[in-house]
Amino acid sequence: MRRDVGGQARVLSSVVHGQTQLHAAFGGVVPEIAARAHAEMLDHCVEQALIQANCTFLSIDAIAVTAGPGLIGGVVSGVMCAKGLVAATGLPLYGINHLAGHALTPRLTDDVVYPYLMLLVSGGHCQFLMVDGPNNFTRLGGTIDDAPGEAFDKVARLLGLPQPGGPAVETAALQGKADRFALPRPLLDRPGCDMSFSGLKTAVLRTRDAVAAEHGGLPEAAQADLCAGFQAAVVDVLVEKTRRALAIYLDADLSEPTLCVAGGVAANSQIRAGLEALCANMAVKFSAPPLALCTDNAAMIAFAAMEQMGARPADGFELSARPRWPLDGTSPGMLGSGKKGAKA
Ligand code: KG4
Ligand code: ZN
Repeated sequence: MRRDVGGQARVLSSVVHGQTQLHAAFGGVVPEIAARAHAEMLDHCVEQALIQANCTFLSIDAIAVTAGPGLIGGVVSGVMCAKGLVAATGLPLYGINHLAGHALTPRLTDDVVYPYLMLLVSGGHCQFLMVDGPNNFTRLGGTIDDAPGEAFDKVARLLGLPQPGGPAVETAALQGKADRFALPRPLLDRPGCDMSFSGLKTAVLRTRDAVAAEHGGLPEAAQADLCAGFQAAVVDVLVEKTRRALAIYLDADLSEPTLCVAGGVAANSQIRAGLEALCANMAVKFSAPPLALCTDNAAMIAFAAMEQMGARPADGFELSARPRWPLDGTSPGMLGSGKKGAKA
């Protein structure tokens, strides 16, 4: 990552090494395998990133690393690798919150000005963030249980579709009727911007079982109708909760009100269309970084460090890997398992 003379950031190289294949046989991510894969591949990825960017450690200003939140084995591997590089080169170290990486990406790809509203929707995250500056985030709400991508993946599994579930459900939904089955729109009857997707997934399970009991299996048409119905419910929830978050955000005096979306689920064309229509209605600019920078990548972490460098000191060797690390330190912790920030 480099800042050009005009101040525009430019990605010199971006190396992403996915692990989906390693976990495929287990039906989900195995933490130990994830940690080992990180430890094994990090050196190679750093080397490739330097080669592709055509630079060496001598031409680098700082080293940035994700220090959380996330599966701790992988995060520890990254932090240890970065500390090793810092010990050898003497470069400054910046531990970056993974969510800050996602939340700041729109400024890398689009001409977005602070403050903007960010909807982060992926397999692990779902939250509204007011982004006031590179290290200044206010959480307006988020999921209290599953993230939407997680719900897409689980629904795909329930309906016998392949992983990752999002694209599979979206494709199947093209042939389906969204209104055939009555599915809930969780938490729409309550004020605020919090969301819930776990009950929706259970409603899909119950409907599937009822259909299967009646027909002695799940007919393809019912599978498509369930996908369409589920997707429509997610769209309704996200659009209505975004409308409420925008209403809070628009309360301030803004020169260029903007809604940004990031995360794998933002690839869904129905969700995107719903949010774009909402923004058009509310006279708000809509920005969605290209998918390669929306999903997990190192360039967004380097960019977040570049944004934060002038605003805070570098980290020392005491930098620790954090499984949970809420971006907005002032937001109250939520009760119950899985609700303390790593997912949300
Ligand atoms: O941001 P991401 O690549 O990884 C993290 O979770 O951090 O998001 C992956 C998630 C998966 O759950 C996947 O099913 C979902 O994004 N996804 C989609 C679509 N494409 C990917 N969900 C709905 N519709 C899609 N087209
Ligand atoms: Zn992520």
